[in-house]
Amino acid sequence: MQGVFITGTDTGVGKTQIGVLLAKALSRKNIKVIPRKPVESGCKIIGSTLIPADALALKQAAGYKGELREVCPYRFAPPVSPVRAAQMANKALTTEQLVKACQHEDGHGFTLVEGAGGLYSPMSEDGLNADLAMALKLPVLLVAEDKLGVLNQVLLNAEALDMCGLSLVGIVLNNPNNSRDRYMDNAADIKARLDCAVFKQNYCGNISDDLVSKVIAVQTSPVSELLVL
Ligand SMILES: Nc1ncnc2c1ncn2[C@@H]1O[C@H](COP(=O)(O)OP(=O)(O)O)[C@@H](O)[C@H]1O
Ligand SMILES: [Mg+2]
Repeated sequence: MQGVFITGTDTGVGKTQIGVLLAKALSRKNIKVIPRKPVESGCKIIGSTLIPADALALKQAAGYKGELREVCPYRFAPPVSPVRAAQMANKALTTEQLVKACQHEDGHGFTLVEGAGGLYSPMSEDGLNADLAMALKLPVLLVAEDKLGVLNQVLLNAEALDMCGLSLVGIVLNNPNNSRDRYMDNAADIKARLDCAVFKQNYCGNISDDLVSKVIAVQTSPVSELLVL
């Protein structure tokens, strides 16, 4: 499966925003994006339907022709973790179900998966976001808010990814609240400690071309990735 698993250092850091921008950028390059947000809690109820806002945004950005239920089959209203929300609905999600929800028949499609919460957030009864990324064998894009404290968050995530054997495509330092401190240079501070590509995402800004190229390059160069190891 070609694609990327988008996780974050927290909820609300911009996973969906980056997913949307990335899906649009890839679509502009005529890459067929297959969006997946296998489980979404905090859905609005319209009539008798649960509307998954993230999944809908990703579907629209990708110009995905499939059904919304293919993008997000597991939807819950309570704005709590997916596992708790499922329990409240007397359902028990498994990683296997989430893997199936992400799979598709399109060999040429680029699968863009957004997790829920962060890498170690539980996503099912038997697994974390990391377990789903591992099962899908997808490289990971880590979104973090560019703020004081982010170095700790990013380094912890990088170590966890390493332990899981997950490859890190890059780190997006996002500015979702237009609150970047001009005295900080988290990108430089991360690069000094981690051998990884770091991309800055401005508030309401365009996605970096370098990030889009990197995401595409990772798919096509598994051999060079292995050589680095
Ligand atoms: N770069 C950005 N510029 C402007 N608004 C942003 C940016 N990144 C995120 N946001 C906003 O911040 C909020 C949280 O982002 P979201 O992508 O939903 O986070 P997550 O998916 O990690 O929970 C949303 O309202 C989103 O529109
Ligand atoms: Mg989201």
